[in-house]
Amino acid sequence: MGVSGLLWAVRALVILQFVTGILGWGKEGHYATCKIAEGYLTAEALAAVKELLPESAEGDLANVCSWPDEIRFHYHWSSALHYVDTPDFRCNYEYCRDCHDSSGRKDRCVTGAIYNYTNQLSSLYQNSKSESNYNLTEALMFLSHFIGDAHQPLHVGFLGDLGGNTIQVRWYRRKSNLHHVWDNMIIESALKTFYSSDLATMIRAIQNNITENWSNQQPLWEHCAHNHTVCPNPYASESISLACKYAYKNATPGSTLEDDYFLSRLPIVEKRLAQGGIRLAATLNRIFASHVKIAQA
Ligand code: ADE
Ligand code: ZN
Ligand code: ZN
Repeated sequence: MGVSGLLWAVRALVILQFVTGILGWGKEGHYATCKIAEGYLTAEALAAVKELLPESAEGDLANVCSWPDEIRFHYHWSSALHYVDTPDFRCNYEYCRDCHDSSGRKDRCVTGAIYNYTNQLSSLYQNSKSESNYNLTEALMFLSHFIGDAHQPLHVGFLGDLGGNTIQVRWYRRKSNLHHVWDNMIIESALKTFYSSDLATMIRAIQNNITENWSNQQPLWEHCAHNHTVCPNPYASESISLACKYAYKNATPGSTLEDDYFLSRLPIVEKRLAQGGIRLAATLNRIFASHVKIAQA
């Protein structure tokens, strides 16, 4: 490779790093959300999920929950579906005002995508699977990923800073940006500091918290008003509220985030992973229970 080839390779790497930073909880966050969800699936939902999973999942939903991040170049249209932003410094979310892509096309945002893929999967039991016009394997992987994203506070951030992507900060001594801190760094530092660098141990700790400390909240997390199948709007409202109260707070451009920030924000991240997992399971349980009702009716 000549010098100009090398330059292009370096440029491509930098761009890749930037784009990696803007999409989704990191791999660990999505794996954790889906792993937690698996533990709360009904037998019926688990059977339907297993039937839809691609070979590469090896029977485990958690293995393919980051797939939408991996195909983002190939499925360029899906980029805007990972987040929803509010007007600058507005700490509330409104579907009609906020759910659009950068060209203003309505419903193209994370909450719109959650509705869309839930509808596609529900159609599985209105038509038979083979008659469905949708790729339901992809719909399952998108839905599982986007429910996770909607729980990352900065995936419902301000338009002007792209959900913290343009806010340069230091994470301890490393250069980073605020969005990347919330997607990856808080989880990475937690793994190293508290969980012997073992994701399974961290997931077990969150599962323990769900049964020991948050058990009275679990029904509230699962609840979806008016008998709806999925409820992404409250998740997005919670996220922008947490973004204002914890993510953006004391994280101005150029600041160094270390112990104080890490230790006070980690409990928020762990609770959001738990809520994402519980709500993904509740949604899949509702989607894949409907066919019994229809069959019985
Ligand atoms: N691009 C623009 N806004 C974003 C956000 N909130 N999260 C991720 N990527 C974005
Ligand atoms: Zn994502
Ligand atoms: Zn992200």
